Amino acid sequence: MVNITYQDKVYRCRKGESVLDAALRQGVNLQFSCRNGVCQVCLQRAVKGELPKASQKGIKEKLRARGYFMPCVCRPRSDIEFESPVADDLYFTATVAAKERLSQHIYRIVLEPSLALDYHAGQFINLKHPDGTTRSYSLASVAGEDYYLELHIQRMPNGVMSNWLIDALEVGSEIEMQGPNGNCFYQPASIDQNLLLIATGSGLAPLVGILRTALAAGHSGQPAAAWRHWLVYCARHWRPGTAGRFIFTMAAGWPKGFIWLIHCTN
Ligand SMILES: Cc1cc2nc3c(=O)[nH]c(=O)nc-3n(C[C@H](O)[C@H](O)[C@H](O)COP(=O)(O)OP(=O)(O)OC[C@H]3O[C@@H](n4cnc5c(N)ncnc54)[C@H](O)[C@@H]3O)c2cc1C
Ligand code: FES
Repeated sequence: MVNITYQDKVYRCRKGESVLDAALRQGVNLQFSCRNGVCQVCLQRAVKGELPKASQKGIKEKLRARGYFMPCVCRPRSDIEFESPVADDLYFTATVAAKERLSQHIYRIVLEPSLALDYHAGQFINLKHPDGTTRSYSLASVAGEDYYLELHIQRMPNGVMSNWLIDALEVGSEIEMQGPNGNCFYQPASIDQNLLLIATGSGLAPLVGILRTALAAGHSGQPAAAWRHWLVYCARHWRPGTAGRFIFTMAAGWPKGFIWLIHCTN
């Protein structure tokens, strides 16, 4: 058992327990989403003590140096003290430039960030609801080619953030965002590897960006292979006029050796 100190109060953290679980168990209200060290929604700032390496994996160098860590995967071996994040360290605003329905459950939201953003296709950003709820959304846009950030939001039944983004957030309004985050993106060093991209629903978003980046980088795959690039996409509802237009337009510019499959279930 070790002590974790948050906002001058001391809490007990059991052996093998994460800081997030220990805090929630003792009534501390911390933000979280994936609980798995992926989304960075739970970021907090350590001011004393030794952080396990895993709790800072994937966090930007600048933030790591300032003590930011992910409590959901932080299992401390000795006492630590932490504070809430400094808002300006993480968040900045973006303006909603457009909103469009792509399929029965998926909407395209286009954002203009207030800062120039350098990101890799396949990364994601975190958006903050006015009540503080924060959720991650993958980027479908490509840095350097697209001026705006593009997101594909799937409506979740009774979901706090997705329903607010789709129904309440108006074009022209501002939203707080953080990022980009994530280590799953296209590696231009491997242009001779074949690509297999599989997505369902809004999972198409990061793959669109990855594919566009790969093709712009001259991704060749193995020339002797029967296939070099595959995109397998599964959708519950298929509307050729919306999401379909999106894929067909892209496919028109794709090279020989490219196969794409779409499977729909209802
Ligand atoms: C790296 C990453 C990238 C992502 N990219 C995208 C993306 O590009 N597009 C996208 O649409 N999503 C994406 N997501 C998922 C997204 O972050 C949200 O999880 C999603 O939008 C749902 O959030 P919500 O607030 O609407 O729903 P929540 O309020 O979190 O609820 C989710 C579901 O759980 C149910 N639920 C909530 N509480 C309970 C409870 N107590 N008991 C039982 N059921 C409950 C809700 O009814 C709902 O159906 C991504 C997630 C990650 C981690
Ligand atoms: S809740 Fe997603 S990284 Fe901690």
